[in-house]
Amino acid sequence: MLYLVIENFQKERISMKRIAVLTSGGDCSGMNATIRAVVRASLAAGAEVIGFQKGFSGLIKGLSEPLTTRSVSGILQRGGTFLQSARCPEMHTEEGLNRAVESLQRLNIDGLAVIGGDGSLRGALALHRHGIKVMGIPASIDNDIPFTDMSLGVDTALNNIIYAVDCVKDTASSHDRAFLIETMGRNCGYLAVVAAIACGAEHALIPEADYDIEEICNNLKRRFEEGRDNSILMVAEGVGHAQEIAEQIKDRVGFETRIMVLGHYQRGGSPSTFDRLLGARFGAGTVEALLKGEAGKMVGLCCGRLEFTDLDKVLASGRRPIDQVLLKLATVLGI
Ligand code: F6P
Repeated sequence: MLYLVIENFQKERISMKRIAVLTSGGDCSGMNATIRAVVRASLAAGAEVIGFQKGFSGLIKGLSEPLTTRSVSGILQRGGTFLQSARCPEMHTEEGLNRAVESLQRLNIDGLAVIGGDGSLRGALALHRHGIKVMGIPASIDNDIPFTDMSLGVDTALNNIIYAVDCVKDTASSHDRAFLIETMGRNCGYLAVVAAIACGAEHALIPEADYDIEEICNNLKRRFEEGRDNSILMVAEGVGHAQEIAEQIKDRVGFETRIMVLGHYQRGGSPSTFDRLLGARFGAGTVEALLKGEAGKMVGLCCGRLEFTDLDKVLASGRRPIDQVLLKLATVLGI
């Protein structure tokens, strides 16, 4: 399914003495696997590696540490990011950007790998425009980054959600209950709709599709009257709080529902095999690309292969739209 990387690596590589890596924005599982791959691939090419702590804010403050194979040993199976992460409003200012550039120059960094979501890739692009050789690695449970079929962390988040929903179904069916389960994803309903398909939910309320609350309530009442012992509604945070939707439903159906807000639980935990492998490919592929002289691009997984797209193209095209085939599948399955 996933295989390495760019051909003719040894033959065409250029000399880079120091490669740096940072994780930025909301964390996700698989970031450690990616850092590890950046470190190991860089060392294999004879470059030193520097890790910046706490994302761009650590870069601006010069919070750095040398990374060796020892530094990345034992982290592959851990969620989160051992370099830590942060959101960094200073990167939106010229002063913050200049400080970031100075920090990179002071440490003689030849190439930088930025692992993160939309905002982090914007930071990477800004650095590229200031002459830094930077590459982006898409990491966000939201799966809203274009020019990659999957971002890092999505698969693990889905596994977390599915485990939680399966557990809730057990208790729901013991009490003839309807549950609303709120997923993250910002304005993207990907997690909610995939989880609905994978868990056999009755409805998925997502920002990308209209829904009719009356129709949903009629369906819930019908299921209740037919003696169905549970109903599951996945609610993407982009449509509002599950609590508010539960209030609207309660008034219409005449029975209580329960809610579960999955929150940050979705972002943590040991990464799935898919995310470990994706992190390994993204990390090693990014280093190879830097060594080939590429910069200002984002690595992506496109139909099973690694592709590199200019960051300005990635960021100009807005959020990745939800796959219409996925929505059709959900409809066909009665969601
Ligand atoms: O972008 C990732 C994400 O987890 C979103 O799904 C969510 O809306 C947001 O980050 C939460 O951000 P924070 O960790 O700052 O609360």
